[in-house]
Amino acid sequence: MYFETKQNFMSYPFKINSLEAYNKAREQSVKDPEGFWAEIASSFLWKKRWDTVLNWNFKEPKIEWFKGGKLNITENCIDRHLGTLSNKPAIIWEPNDPDENHRVLTYRDLYNKVIQFSNVLKNNGVKKGDRVCLYMGMVPELAIATLACARIGAVHSVIFGGFSAQSIADRLQDAQAEYIVTCDGAYRGNKEISLKAVIDDALVQCRFVKKVIVLTHTRTPISMIKGRDVWWEDEIKKVETMGNPDCPAEEMDAEDPLFILYTSGSTGKPKGVVHTVGGYMVYTTYSFVNVFQYTPGDIHFCTADIGWITGHSYIVYGPLGAGATTLIFEGIPTWPDAGRFWDVVDKHKVNILYTAPTAIRSLMGFGLEPLVGKDLSSLKVLGSVGEPINEEAWHWFDEHIGKKRCPIVDTWWQTETGGILISNMAGITPSKPSYATLPLPGVQPVLVDENGMVIEGNNVSGNLCIKFPWPGMLRTTYGDHDRCRTNYFATYENLYFTGDGCYRDATGNYRITGRVDDVLNVSGHRIGTAEVENAINMHAGVVESAVVGYPHDIKGQGIYAYVIYDNTHDDDNLTRLDINQTVSRIIGAIAKPDKIQFVKGLPKTRSGKIMRRILRKIAEGELENLGDTSTLLDPSVVEEIKQGRV
Ligand code: WTA
Repeated sequence: MYFETKQNFMSYPFKINSLEAYNKAREQSVKDPEGFWAEIASSFLWKKRWDTVLNWNFKEPKIEWFKGGKLNITENCIDRHLGTLSNKPAIIWEPNDPDENHRVLTYRDLYNKVIQFSNVLKNNGVKKGDRVCLYMGMVPELAIATLACARIGAVHSVIFGGFSAQSIADRLQDAQAEYIVTCDGAYRGNKEISLKAVIDDALVQCRFVKKVIVLTHTRTPISMIKGRDVWWEDEIKKVETMGNPDCPAEEMDAEDPLFILYTSGSTGKPKGVVHTVGGYMVYTTYSFVNVFQYTPGDIHFCTADIGWITGHSYIVYGPLGAGATTLIFEGIPTWPDAGRFWDVVDKHKVNILYTAPTAIRSLMGFGLEPLVGKDLSSLKVLGSVGEPINEEAWHWFDEHIGKKRCPIVDTWWQTETGGILISNMAGITPSKPSYATLPLPGVQPVLVDENGMVIEGNNVSGNLCIKFPWPGMLRTTYGDHDRCRTNYFATYENLYFTGDGCYRDATGNYRITGRVDDVLNVSGHRIGTAEVENAINMHAGVVESAVVGYPHDIKGQGIYAYVIYDNTHDDDNLTRLDINQTVSRIIGAIAKPDKIQFVKGLPKTRSGKIMRRILRKIAEGELENLGDTSTLLDPSVVEEIKQGRV
């Protein structure tokens, strides 16, 4: 028996359509969070209603939303739309190569394909609770595989296609994932990337993997190991010969895990952030509809990769939960030329374009030529995510893409938050360049000082924390709950600590100023300095290294590595390339340092701690005012480092 919804879902009973309604919702969400979220959750499809809306304490932490509620997220993202949206596009796929045909999957098509692949997973032994690693390019089958896992209650762990074999092996081991879905290869601009070959390298260390399902895409020659590797297409044929079987949606508790997504922190080892079914579903759909002011029929184009949280929440689950049309783009913004995004917008009459400051900055560099002849009049809303957007990029986006008629939403959030926490709502609440502006209803931000004292009032800066749970927040870090506690809930008592610095202006708008921990944001990708250091240190001849960020015109932050190198080497540049190779092998090409400076020593305190503040300043080119260096063991190293700056 289904718990029937009162209203017609497509009218989005929770959609906020005025500033007044926003203020009211925000007030109500603080006064009565449980009532507020229970009402929103009621417009979804539940097999059984929850027992309690919320149980929580930030000490352990324990966070449970809609506990006892039974549901399957795919019934909410697909099945319930079939009555009204059966022939409406759920997914539009635009391939890397503009000369190739695009594909459209209606909600009916998506349903059929998810059912088929759910049965493929089952035939290959995948059961509820099993972890399945997805390492694929940006093809519709990645969304299909993601949803198929959710359908049968398996926990997906999507790994971005840019990670190396070693990174994959680490993640497979951490999650004990016995099943993998991959592609032979992927296209990115003029490059072809052999994904299966990377998986093969990873599996040398992961003998526990039972099955690898391989989708044909590039048809690159690949090795297929008997008994372990199977072709996607063959497995689909097997399912087809079974007739046209259904795949009933597994009944999940709201608090059962939906997925694991690895992200970097200040330690050397990425954390498996765990999100659960019920709260994540409610929060992604609610935030999607409200922030972007989605109207049925709109075409939503989020340029992120499904391998990151933005793709999970705002390509797959949020849009599909709202019965929206989501566009998946396989390619890159600059191939075959820097007009590729605008061609996609023009061709598919995109209404909402959600992208990253790094992409905007890189496209700005090509001037206005790539925009000539491109009809962007379908655009209604623009969005930005992943890093602070500088004013110059904001105004370029506003003038040349939105033609000053499209509100820009600057959405601040994190892998851990599941969905957008601070952002304006398109056309409803005011925007302010370089400000994420105001919290969504249900989100209670606070700024704290170093000692954890809450900073009240306006015109103040501090560390950004959240003081009350919201349904989309992380529940744990996979396999190590205490890590979740120490990382996010132990810095400040009874607060979730974001790791970001933040300024609150005179009218209460929030402006994110960047990470205050040792996490870099390179082209919107989160990379831990400790991770990069570990990788560099594995290179033969490296004695020690220290990695910091520095401002980079396009990437936002670049990676600057100071390296003590033992071997006599006659060619610094060659050694730099060698070190980069090692980093690519250990983490992936995304973590390669932009600059490597060889040094004789690092500035350390007497207790052996590296003074990163000094290294950061030098990397930024600020050679004067390095602050107090009197506590250094050997102040002369600073002079040498300043001289040798690259
Ligand atoms: C940064 C991406 C400023 C921030 C969704 C955060 C931002 C980290 C913004 C999370 C924004 C994200 N303005 N900074 N609008 N959005 N960030 O986990 O430092 O990949 O902590 O999630 O990106 O990165 P993650």
